[in-house]
Amino acid sequence: MAMAATFATVGFVQILVTGGAGFIGSNLVDLLLAEGHEVKVIDDLSTGRASNLAHLEGSIEFHEGSILDVDLVSRVVGGADLVFHLAAAVGVRNIIEAPLRSIRTNVDGTESVLEACVRHDTRVLLASTSEIYGKALKFPMSEDDDRVIGPTHVSRWSYSTSKALDEHLAFAYAAERGLRMSIVRYFNTYGPRLHQNGYGSVVASMTAQALADDPIVIHGDGNQTRCFGFVSDTIRGTYLAGTLDEALGQAFNVGTSIEISINELAERICRAAGSSSKISHISYDEAYGPGFEDPIRRVPDVSKAANILGWAPEVSIDEGLPITVDWWRDNNETLMVAQ
Ligand SMILES: NC(=O)c1ccc[n+]([C@@H]2O[C@H](COP(=O)([O-])OP(=O)(O)OC[C@H]3O[C@@H](n4cnc5c(N)ncnc54)[C@H](O)[C@@H]3O)[C@@H](O)[C@H]2O)c1
Repeated sequence: MAMAATFATVGFVQILVTGGAGFIGSNLVDLLLAEGHEVKVIDDLSTGRASNLAHLEGSIEFHEGSILDVDLVSRVVGGADLVFHLAAAVGVRNIIEAPLRSIRTNVDGTESVLEACVRHDTRVLLASTSEIYGKALKFPMSEDDDRVIGPTHVSRWSYSTSKALDEHLAFAYAAERGLRMSIVRYFNTYGPRLHQNGYGSVVASMTAQALADDPIVIHGDGNQTRCFGFVSDTIRGTYLAGTLDEALGQAFNVGTSIEISINELAERICRAAGSSSKISHISYDEAYGPGFEDPIRRVPDVSKAANILGWAPEVSIDEGLPITVDWWRDNNETLMVAQ
């Protein structure tokens, strides 16, 4: 489906993006402005960066603050026709190092956003994650599949559970309070403005290491696979799920179904960066402490988004990685490699 034909039918004027200074959020803000919307952002800059929005100064309304601030959220949601709720504590490393803060941000913060949306009768899109499928072994993963989650003493699973609880909250607010909502579940997005700030993104870590000609450090044997979706595809799917009537009350996988091993990803990033980095491996225990669990595969079934939203990913990893590496080279030269 042609993007312009779909987007021209959208009737929302003012849109709020929570987490709009973040990686996906700031790319979404660019898209919303290009489509002629008025945009407000709320972000506490905990992992997001003001520089992601610096080029938009004067074009958007920026509120530095937390989604845990109920009064601020209610005020900012007021007047918006639509909310894209992307603010969250993200990334495995963040969740492991600060589980309480992460759970509170994701659960209490989301409830404050959903409550404000009900109060102001504002439609909302919730950004969720492939993590909610946990270590399920059915591939590809469809929206109605069972979740398989590890034990509660492994703090990594608190991210999965907190984002799943967000989804439950959204469905419950829809059923009991008439909230107009839809949900997208992202599978490993990468692209310009991806950052390392404690996030643990494998593309970001490897890109920084490759550009510095430092060893590329892979957790585990590197045979685990993931599907990497380019951010322009992610935000297009997000926009469609957030605006189309057909999406109301539903969750959609947004990602690609093309698998690539982490070893192969490292090789491709080295090629794109023209790097002489050597590839090395460390155990999960060394990287994250004892008892860490990591799914061996994670592959989305994106047929629901194709059928209902008319969405399909367009940017291959061969196209997307060089764009990402070039952006990183131009913007993140001084960033320290975290691992
Ligand atoms: N990048 C991915 O591959 C991926 C995968 C699955 C899900 N997601 C989801 O997409 C969304 C965006 O993630 P991202 O990758 O752009 O990460 P990000 O860290 O760049 O974006 C999150 C943003 O939320 C902000 N934030 C955090 N806590 C906040 C609070 N209490 N109040 C206000 N703002 C707060 C951060 O400062 C940041 O700007 C998140 O909901 C995340 O769970 C991302």
